[in-house]
Amino acid sequence: MATKKAAASADTPKRSGPQRFPTVARAIEALRPSLPVYALYPKRITKSVKSFMSGFPGTTMYAVKANPAPPLLDLIYKAGLRDFDTASLPEVKLIAERYKDATCHFMAPIRIRGTTGEAYRKYGVRSFAIDDETELKHLDEETGITLASERKQVKVFVRLSTPVDGAFLELSSKFGLDAADGAVLLKKVAALGFTPALTFHVGSLCIRPLAYRQALEFCREAVEMAGVELGGFDVGGGFPAPYPGVPAPPMNDYFKAIRDARKALRLPPKAPLLCEPGRALCAEGISAITQVIRRKEGRIYINDGVYGSFDEMTLPDWNIDYPRRVYMRTGAGKVVEVGGPRRAYRVYGPTCDTLDKMPRPILLPTNLGDEDWIEFGMVGAYSAALRTAFNGFYPDQWVEVQEA
Ligand SMILES: Cc1ncc(COP(=O)(O)O)c(C=O)c1O
Repeated sequence: MATKKAAASADTPKRSGPQRFPTVARAIEALRPSLPVYALYPKRITKSVKSFMSGFPGTTMYAVKANPAPPLLDLIYKAGLRDFDTASLPEVKLIAERYKDATCHFMAPIRIRGTTGEAYRKYGVRSFAIDDETELKHLDEETGITLASERKQVKVFVRLSTPVDGAFLELSSKFGLDAADGAVLLKKVAALGFTPALTFHVGSLCIRPLAYRQALEFCREAVEMAGVELGGFDVGGGFPAPYPGVPAPPMNDYFKAIRDARKALRLPPKAPLLCEPGRALCAEGISAITQVIRRKEGRIYINDGVYGSFDEMTLPDWNIDYPRRVYMRTGAGKVVEVGGPRRAYRVYGPTCDTLDKMPRPILLPTNLGDEDWIEFGMVGAYSAALRTAFNGFYPDQWVEVQEA
């Protein structure tokens, strides 16, 4: 197995990656960008991935949907992660073709017809989520497996709905079953000869580690009612990123809550534990370098907006502002970071749409002017993933910055 993995690793082509700079100031100085640039901080991404992989008591997948940009995926892969939570066939294809030794887990509970079969046959996917009997029937038909030993190798994760408090974005009203219905579906999975497993999602940006324990209590109920041997627990994503002003406890508190809950609830000790963080692995390591197109007194128009990298700013009750650094040219043609007195500005995106504005005024230097740059930090999650080409703007330039 180790030899096979080593061989597969060698097959995965080396890529040159984005242009590298020691600091953001040097990147701006060299590029003088008038279009947005995503700055990747490899040290931060490596740290997030490695600390998750060493701290979480099981297998860490990366939820590709949070940010599927290849330069980021390459850094996550390079940090050692090999398991990916993929939500669609294009995501499976992206990962399977890019990393020969990666494992894709198809964790969307409803799938476009035909994609389960293609993922199984063409890309070797062996884990799938479901939350109803129809999807189980589709899985059975599309994989068309006849051998009992091969059926057993397919893990079918029944998605539970775990309405617990603590997340900025709930993810339990659209998908998931209560424990009793979950138990019924688990039995059906087992009766068909597949390996039954459980999954849930406590909601994105969950600031309460106890939510995972409460969700695992639902799992225990479902397992007890089903009376089947479980092949795994996937505690989903939802782990926070340390945005300014967000009272998120340290990640170790989450790992401890999950580890302790597993023991205290006497969940089957042999059933592997998995998680599928998106935000926690990619938010901190990416910033968006934007430029002021025009200042009109207390209003500024920048070259990126809610149709580009800042979609999350439009979410109901989203009160997080990304940290900012501002850069200006000096007379010597150098670019420097500036501090000094600040004032509140209304910030608009570059499109003609009135809705394209930041929801709250933000504080920036009083002397901010046309063609200065604003770096918005910690925008790695659900930014590039949700950008559009509305009005012809589509941010897609990437650089690497060696700062810690
Ligand atoms: C099934 C599933 N897994 C994982 C994630 C990643 O969540 P997060 O970025 O909050 O960790 C999501 C986010 O929507 C999801 O729906």
